[in-house]
Parts: sequence; structure tokens; C-alpha cells
Amino acid sequence: MATPRKPAPAGNEGQLRVKKLALIGAGKLGEGLLSGLLGSQLIPPNRVEVTVAHADRADYLAEKYSVKAHTSNARAVAGADLVIIALKPQQVKGFLGEVRNKLRRDALLISAAASVSTSLIERQLGHAARVIRAMPNTPCLIRQGMTSLSAGRHATPQDVELAREIFTSMGRTVVVDEKHMDAITGLSASGPAYVYLIIESLAEGGVKMGLPRELSTELSAQTLLGASALVLETGEHPAKLKDVVTTPAGCTIDGLLELEEGGLRVTLIKAVVRAAERAKQLVEDHNT
Ligand SMILES: NC(=O)c1ccc[n+]([C@@H]2O[C@H](COP(=O)([O-])OP(=O)(O)OC[C@H]3O[C@@H](n4cnc5c(N)ncnc54)[C@H](OP(=O)(O)O)[C@@H]3O)[C@@H](O)[C@H]2O)c1
Repeated sequence: MATPRKPAPAGNEGQLRVKKLALIGAGKLGEGLLSGLLGSQLIPPNRVEVTVAHADRADYLAEKYSVKAHTSNARAVAGADLVIIALKPQQVKGFLGEVRNKLRRDALLISAAASVSTSLIERQLGHAARVIRAMPNTPCLIRQGMTSLSAGRHATPQDVELAREIFTSMGRTVVVDEKHMDAITGLSASGPAYVYLIIESLAEGGVKMGLPRELSTELSAQTLLGASALVLETGEHPAKLKDVVTTPAGCTIDGLLELEEGGLRVTLIKAVVRAAERAKQLVEDHNT
């Protein structure tokens, strides 16, 4: 089993040995990574250049984060020793074609694009590029992320270490075999969306029983947070922790019975399977 790393404590623990970081595609995930990276003080804003498709979005990012932001990928990658790709999967090939002659041959590329394999990136660049594939999730924004990392053929152990350093500043990291990445996409990358649905639904239950909505949402979200922390901190099987809450002939067993009848378990399992299958399908669309 891969060894998880806990988030690095807040504060400046020494900056990355990166002279210029180009972050390509600062959308929902990319902005989260930018915010997490700058917030952890691993790299100062004056060493970061970000790109997006629209100039007004670039202006917003430049203003908010004090980084260079524009729409020219070729300009951003020029001289960069680290390039983080947070584009949509279908945009990655085009980006690589656009910059392959501008990119430093010794640059390290970290791609967070779902479905895009390290071998596709290596092939598109046409040289022995050092590539790491990362699958983070949006809680990286508040240093509670879960990121899985896989090394491409030419990435060195130091490259993996650098990627770990970056993503550990935004939450937990694990290093995994790349063959697991689609399953991981369906679980921890898509997972926050499933969890928001659960939080919302539990809160609605509270509202149905007369609780004010704001209070109900706080109770619901903190319950998920606390229960998750207990799993991670104790290392206990979730079923054992569930049994601790479930007093014989108490209230919880009635609630659990409803969940079983409603097929919650099967539904969540199927959600992960469907999302993972979709990720695999995108691979077929884009990795050829
Ligand atoms: N969202 C998640 O939770 C999550 C989690 C794990 C992995 N990922 C992966 O992260 C990637 C991005 O997802 P997202 O949800 O962040 O999508 P998104 O919000 O649509 O972000 C894509 C960004 O790329 C920019 N862009 C589009 N074309 C570009 C180009 N040619 N050059 C430079 N920038 C360009 C867009 O600019 P504009 O804003 O100006 O349009 C936008 O900011 C995907 O591959 C996804 O699989 C996402």
C-alpha cells in the first residue's frame, strides 16, 4: 500500500528549488493549485507565470495573486524549469504541440489532467521528457487535498520528491502505479462532488426535522469531517467505527436500515465505477 503523507504544517519551510513555474490553465483546479502553492509559501509569486484562455480571467488572476498571468503558453513555458498542466484533457495535445519547441528539454512537467497518460505527453514532446502525472482534488485549495502521483518513464526519484513536496503543501499525497489513475479519478478527484451531495442531503434531513438550514449544514459538514478524520487517524475499519455509533435497539440502526433500503452503498460504489470508466474512455479518446 502506498504511504500517505500528511499535509505540511503552515509556514515557510524552505522554498522549492524552482526558478520559474509555468501553470498552464488556471481554471477551477489550476487556481486552487495556485492559491495552495502561494499560500504554502513554497514559491514566491514573482517566479510564477500562469496562462488561461481569456484575457479578463488573466487580469483577475494577476490582480488577485500578484503573478504574471496572460494567454500565451509559449511565453509562459519559455525558460520554465517546472510546468504544471491543469488544462482540460482534450486541450493537452494541442498545448504540447504548441510549446514543444519552446519548452526546455530538462523541464519537469506535472500534469493534473484527468485521463492523459505520461506516455502520451512523452510521445507528443518527442524527447525523453520528465513527466509526473498528478490527480489532486479541489480541497487542495484549503490544504486538505488528496493527491495521487505517478512517475513517467524518465522522471527521477528527485522529481517525484519535488511533486510530493508541492502537493503535500496542499494536503495528503500518495505515490501510485499509473494503472490506478482512472480509478483514483473516479474516487478522490470526483469524490468531493459526491460528498457535497451527501452533506446537502443530510442537511435537508435536519431541515425536514425543523433545524435552521445554516445550522443543519454546519452539523452535516462537520460530521463528515470528524468521521473522516477518525478513519484516517485511528486507521480503524469504517465498519468498526460504525458499530461504535450503533447502539443495540438505538436510533442509528433505524437510520442505517433506511440507507440500506435506499441502496446507498451500491449507489456510491456504482458512482465511482461509472466515473472511473468515463476516465478510461477519455484515455481512449485522447491517448492515441
Ligand atoms: N476540477 C477538479 O476538481 C479536478 C480535479 C482533478 C483534476 N482535474 C483536472 O484538471 C483539469 C482542469 O479542470 P478544471 O475543472 O479546472 O477545468 P476549468 O475550470 O475549465 O479550467 C481550464 C482552464 O484552462 C484554461 N484554458 C483553456 N484553454 C487554454 C489554453 N489553450 N491555454 C491556456 N489555458 C487554457 C481556461 O481558461 P479560461 O478560464 O480563460 O477559460 C480555464 O481557466 C482537467 O484536466 C481535470 O481533469 C480537475
